[in-house]
Amino acid sequence: MKAIIQKDPDTPRSLELAEVDQPELQPGEVLLKVHYAGVNRADILQTQGNYPPPAGASELLGLECAGTIADAGDTDFEVGQEFAALLAGGAYAEYVAVPAGQLLPIPEGYSLEHAASVVEVACTVWSNIAMEAGLHEGQTILIHGGGGGIGTFAIQVAKALGAKVAVTAGSAEKLETCRKLGADILINYHEQDFAEVLKNSCDVILDIIGAKYLKQNIKALAKDGHMVTIGLQGGTKEELNMGILVAKRLTLQGTTLRARSLEDKAAIVRDTVDNVWPWLADGTVRHHWHATYPLAEAAEAHAALDSGEVTGTLVLEVAD
Ligand SMILES: NC(=O)c1ccc[n+]([C@@H]2O[C@H](COP(=O)([O-])OP(=O)(O)OC[C@H]3O[C@@H](n4cnc5c(N)ncnc54)[C@H](OP(=O)(O)O)[C@@H]3O)[C@@H](O)[C@H]2O)c1
Repeated sequence: MKAIIQKDPDTPRSLELAEVDQPELQPGEVLLKVHYAGVNRADILQTQGNYPPPAGASELLGLECAGTIADAGDTDFEVGQEFAALLAGGAYAEYVAVPAGQLLPIPEGYSLEHAASVVEVACTVWSNIAMEAGLHEGQTILIHGGGGGIGTFAIQVAKALGAKVAVTAGSAEKLETCRKLGADILINYHEQDFAEVLKNSCDVILDIIGAKYLKQNIKALAKDGHMVTIGLQGGTKEELNMGILVAKRLTLQGTTLRARSLEDKAAIVRDTVDNVWPWLADGTVRHHWHATYPLAEAAEAHAALDSGEVTGTLVLEVAD
């Protein structure tokens, strides 16, 4: 089959179309013919050698896709059925092996092209703010990077859950996007200290910054507050006063979706489909897909995502 390979491990953009072996199915897996693959920031990190696939996962790029079943293996699915899929790797290819628990129906009203890039963001946001942090009606959540791919989706999910939403972003344009999506408190992190504005008021924080914001996040958290860190854009090391943790009864948690067990991923997929898919169908939550590139132009898609000028997600067209 055709797939994108990285020709030179030291050159992130040396992405080329090549002939590789088709994946062999393991028990409980189906073979999906990939029509479209979603492009994620994690794919760029992988090409830079910073985010290797977990043991046993495909070495090929691509954490999500949409397509049709080409071989149902030992499962009860049928050849030709359309699905989206959450993957540990392998979507930048004509075929990918998918554990059956990681297949998701195409959201009502979505094309395969649109569905290919909603899976990773939806599962990440839902699993962290709802399943892990338990965000519910009447609570306040702080979402860092509110204008980013995760942030724009998280604002809408948090509003759908009935929460009050505070966001940080680095420009008036991004804050305006956040406001239109329903965010209640808008903080430009270049101009204001979010911890001063929000001190002791956040029940949940969705953190993508890590070390640089640790002290401010702890100040912003309310008693019994819960922070989930999913990104480390601001570094990994910082000192922590554990006295405040104890006094405020705080929970600090870190998660990553890619390396979780098959059982965990299947549970996340089920819960995301049960709760978020109806919101995609009725427009409560809108997912913005920015542009589609041919598979052979994966390097150009990565360059576009890296430029910071993409609002929403990018998709690669794999099958005609
Ligand atoms: N753990 C997981 O399972 C998982 C899964 C998916 C994604 N992630 C991580 O989640 C993060 C966000 O992903 P994404 O796809 O949403 O990326 P993205 O679209 O590039 O968004 C990142 C955002 O970070 C904002 N930002 C940068 N510096 C900031 C600061 N000091 N304070 C507040 N915001 C700041 C940027 O906004 P400005 O331009 O306004 O600064 C940008 O909108 C990434 O770190 C990614 O690796 C983790």
